[in-house]
Amino acid sequence: MRVGERMSDVTDPTARLFDQWARDGQAERMQAGHLARASQALEALPIAPGQRLLDLGCGNGWATRMLHARAGATGWCYGVDAAPDMIARAREQSALLDRIEFQVATFDALPWPDDHFAHAFSFEALYYAPDLAAALAEVHRVLQPGGTLVAGTDFYAENPTCLGWPERMGVPMTLLSEQGWVDALAAAGFEVERTFRCLDPRPVDPAWPEAKRLAEERFRSEIGSLALVAVAG
Ligand SMILES: C[S@@+](CC[C@H](N)C(=O)[O-])C[C@H]1O[C@@H](n2cnc3c(N)ncnc32)[C@H](O)[C@@H]1O
Repeated sequence: MRVGERMSDVTDPTARLFDQWARDGQAERMQAGHLARASQALEALPIAPGQRLLDLGCGNGWATRMLHARAGATGWCYGVDAAPDMIARAREQSALLDRIEFQVATFDALPWPDDHFAHAFSFEALYYAPDLAAALAEVHRVLQPGGTLVAGTDFYAENPTCLGWPERMGVPMTLLSEQGWVDALAAAGFEVERTFRCLDPRPVDPAWPEAKRLAEERFRSEIGSLALVAVAG
């Protein structure tokens, strides 16, 4: 933690779980697992050089660094995450870059003023918010009118392979259908321009147990991540 930084509640089970994941090398495994699908979602952001961009639930900051590459030499990119150990990894791995910063904070209390960001990105993170409506309202607050949020999720009702995750991981998650996400974003002041699915063409490791391999093959080739392109009104 840095002096003066607002601390997330690390007694919160979700922040504690992801702190442990950061220490176990899971942030880099998530990066490898998410990259093929998340980069398709990230492409949907209409980024112009010089803009200020936000990555919500940034983990080790790999997507923040992709945003940074697109924002050019005059852009500024920020990653936010509730898990201090994730933020520590993000800072280490971005140490050679200028104009990129990482903050420990939760989605429902973002430490920036109104209308601060041109666009925001989030992959596999917003559904962990204890109060999703409050989190989406807060994201809307920090986005400029007309700014775009691209949110990608693997945890949604039309994906049967994810339904046991809350019990398996032992942390609360909000399960919504695709239409549920559209409605939740609309209630927070966004208009969803489009939704699409991000597939992953990579083959699954044949050494995986058969049931797990078949489920993952179906997820990668037919179901995919749900991406929502939402414009702040
Ligand atoms: C599944 S990981 C995804 C990380 C990264 N976006 C990726 O795709 O690899 C979810 C991240 O969201 C963070 N997170 C969960 N709940 C949060 C909250 N309420 N506020 C901020 N970050 C949160 C976790 O600490 C974790 O790093």
